[in-house]
Amino acid sequence: MKIGTMLFKTIAVLTLSILKEGYAVPCTEPGLTMCVCRGTEIYCEGLNLAHIPSNIPKITTVLSFQVNQISAINATSLSGLTSLKRIVSSTYQCSTAFTKGVPLERQNTWHALFNANKISSIDADAFSDLQSLELLLLESNKIKSIDANVLSGLTSLKTLRLDYNDISSIEDGAFSDLRSLSKLSIDRNNLTTVSANVFNKDVDLRSLSLRGNPLVCCAMADFFEWRPSQNNITYSSGDCTDFNSTTDINSFNVSKCPIDGQWGAWSAGTCSVTCGNGIRYRNRRCDSPPSSNNGQDCIGSSTLYVLCNSGVCTESCKGSGKKPESKRMKTRKWKSYQYRQLNRRGDTRNK
Ligand SMILES: *[C@@H]1O[C@H](CO)[C@@H](O)[C@H](O)[C@H]1NC(C)=O
Ligand SMILES: *[C@@H]1O[C@H](CO)[C@@H](O)[C@H](O)[C@H]1NC(C)=O
Ligand SMILES: *[C@@H]1O[C@H](CO)[C@@H](O)[C@H](O)[C@H]1NC(C)=O
Ligand SMILES: *[C@@H]1O[C@H](CO)[C@@H](O)[C@H](O)[C@H]1NC(C)=O
Ligand SMILES: *[C@@H]1O[C@H](CO)[C@@H](O)[C@H](O)[C@H]1NC(C)=O
Repeated sequence: MKIGTMLFKTIAVLTLSILKEGYAVPCTEPGLTMCVCRGTEIYCEGLNLAHIPSNIPKITTVLSFQVNQISAINATSLSGLTSLKRIVSSTYQCSTAFTKGVPLERQNTWHALFNANKISSIDADAFSDLQSLELLLLESNKIKSIDANVLSGLTSLKTLRLDYNDISSIEDGAFSDLRSLSKLSIDRNNLTTVSANVFNKDVDLRSLSLRGNPLVCCAMADFFEWRPSQNNITYSSGDCTDFNSTTDINSFNVSKCPIDGQWGAWSAGTCSVTCGNGIRYRNRRCDSPPSSNNGQDCIGSSTLYVLCNSGVCTESCKGSGKKPESKRMKTRKWKSYQYRQLNRRGDTRNK
C-alpha cells in the first residue's frame, strides 16, 4: 500500500516537473532579464519598474510586481495572459503559502499582487483576458475610482483587495462580472458610499471589509437593504456616520434615514369638452414614495394642463346651434379661470 502510494506520488511529481520544464518561462525576454523566473512563474519585485514589461509569455501563471513604480495598467499590459492565476510576492509564497494551519484555499489560490506601486490609472478591460485569475491584490496604490469596465472579465476572481488607495467612487456595475467574488476588502479609502448596484446579482460574499472610509450611512440605503441577502458573510467590518454619530455597518438601521419624496405617475385626465378644443388636466401625487423622516418634498407642480381636441363639433354635440364666436369666448373665459385655479393650487401645494 505504502510503496504503491509512494510510487504514485513519485510518478506524479516527475510528470509535473516534466510538464513544468516543458513550459518553463525563460527570463531572457527584454524587460524580464532582471526578474526571477521559476517554471511558469515570473517575479519582478523591488526593481523600480515604471511599466509592466510588454512581453510577458502567454503561458505565465504567476506574476509578481510588488514594490515597483508602476503607475498604470493599460488595456494591453496584461492582454492574452489567459493562464495567469496570480501575481504574487515571493514573501507571500514563502511565509504564508506553505504555512501549516493556513486554510488550503489560501495556499492553493493563485493570485495577483500589485501592491506598493503607484497605480492611479487602470484602463477599461485591462484584466479582460484574465478569466483564470482568482486573487487580485491592488493594495497600496493611488487608485481614485473603480469605473464600470475596469474589472470586467474577471469571472473567476474570488478575492479582491483594494485597501490603502484613494478610491472615492465605485461606478454601478463595477463588480458585475465578479460572480465568484467571495472576499472583498476596500479598507482605508475615501468612500462615502457603496451601492448594492456595484455587485453581481448572484454574488455570494463571505467576507466584506470597508474599514477606514468616511461612509455616510443614509447615503447607502440600498446597500443596507441588500446586505441581509448575503447570508454567507462570516466577516463584515466598517463604520458609517449619520445623525452625528458613528455606527457599525452591521448594526445600522436604515429605517431612521430621511426619504425624499418622488412623484407618482401623471393621471390621464379627461378633456373638458366633448367636441372641439378643450383642456385636459393631469395630476400627480408626491407618493412614490412620500417624503418621510424630514426628507425633501417633491419639487415641481402637481398639476399640468394640456390642450385637447375631441373632434369636430357636429349638430348632435351639446351646445350646437350657438354661434362659434360665443362658444370660443366662453372657452377662453373658462380657461383663464382654470389657469388661476391651477396656479393657486400649485402654489399652495409646493410652497
Ligand atoms: C501599454 O503598456 C505596455 C506595457 O505594460 C506598453 O508596452 C504599451 O506600449 C502600452 N500601450 C499603450 C497604448 O500605452
Ligand atoms: C475624498 O473625496 C472627496 C470627495 O468625495 C474629495 O474632496 C477629497 O479630496 C478626497 N480626499 C482624498 C484624500 O483623496
Ligand atoms: C451560501 O452558501 C451555500 C453553500 O455554499 C449556498 O448553497 C447558498 O446559496 C449561499 N447563500 C447565498 C445567499 O448565496
Ligand atoms: C449634528 O451636529 C450639529 C452641530 O453640532 C447640530 O447642529 C445638528 O443639529 C446635529 N444633528 C443631529 C441630527 O443631531
Ligand atoms: C429598525 O427600526 C424600526 C423602527 O424603529 C424597527 O421596527 C425595526 O425592527 C428595526 N430593524 C432592525 C433590524 O433592528
